Amino acid sequence: MTEIKATNITWHEGHVDRTVREGILKQKGALIWMTGLSGSGKSTIAYTLEHALVQEGRLAYVLDGDNIRFGLNKNLGFSPEDRTENIRRIGEVGKLFVDAGIITITAFISPYEADRQIARETVGEGNFFEVFCDTPLDVCEERDPKGLYKKARAGEIKGFTGVDAPYEAPTKAEHVIDTSKLSPQDATIELVAMLTKAGKMSA
Ligand code: ADX
Repeated sequence: MTEIKATNITWHEGHVDRTVREGILKQKGALIWMTGLSGSGKSTIAYTLEHALVQEGRLAYVLDGDNIRFGLNKNLGFSPEDRTENIRRIGEVGKLFVDAGIITITAFISPYEADRQIARETVGEGNFFEVFCDTPLDVCEERDPKGLYKKARAGEIKGFTGVDAPYEAPTKAEHVIDTSKLSPQDATIELVAMLTKAGKMSA
């Protein structure tokens, strides 16, 4: 766990708690943590799910790996340490979003089990739904939507996940999606059902 560096800080409790915000929104905050290889369909499913939820009047928001690296995490690269920090920050941001009552969907490779476990603990059991985009490497590589596998195989990108950097597959994900068999729309139906079953779709 990262230690708190600052001294002389005091926690300030607000006057409004999460359940009040959830009452306004008529839903409960949740974090759907999509993990999987590059090209496994995380972002596509995340944005399809966000759209479906918003269309039925839910407040949903995607935190996407590539996009977050343009801003909040622009100072991080792809070394193991930077990936760990990337995931730590998203766990913390996710915790804030969940406290705000938002159905939050993250799409990060998040290749290390230990980092995902920290995010799970940060956000808290019951709020955190790990969803494994279990798409075989050869399918991701075949899709290669950004041409990055080609570059990694040519040695133009070092430390590319699945090629010469590890991906530790989840062993206790709340949900597993094989996107080589399931469309983003069908995956969305499953994830909405998961949220409904968990009681997240009413305050
Ligand atoms: S993570 O490993 O730290 O969770 P993150 O999801 O934020 O990664 O970013 C992954 C995206 O960055 C990939 O989808 C790809 O577009 C891009 N990328 C660039 N370099 C790499 C790399 N070495 N390994 C994996 N993805 C990379």
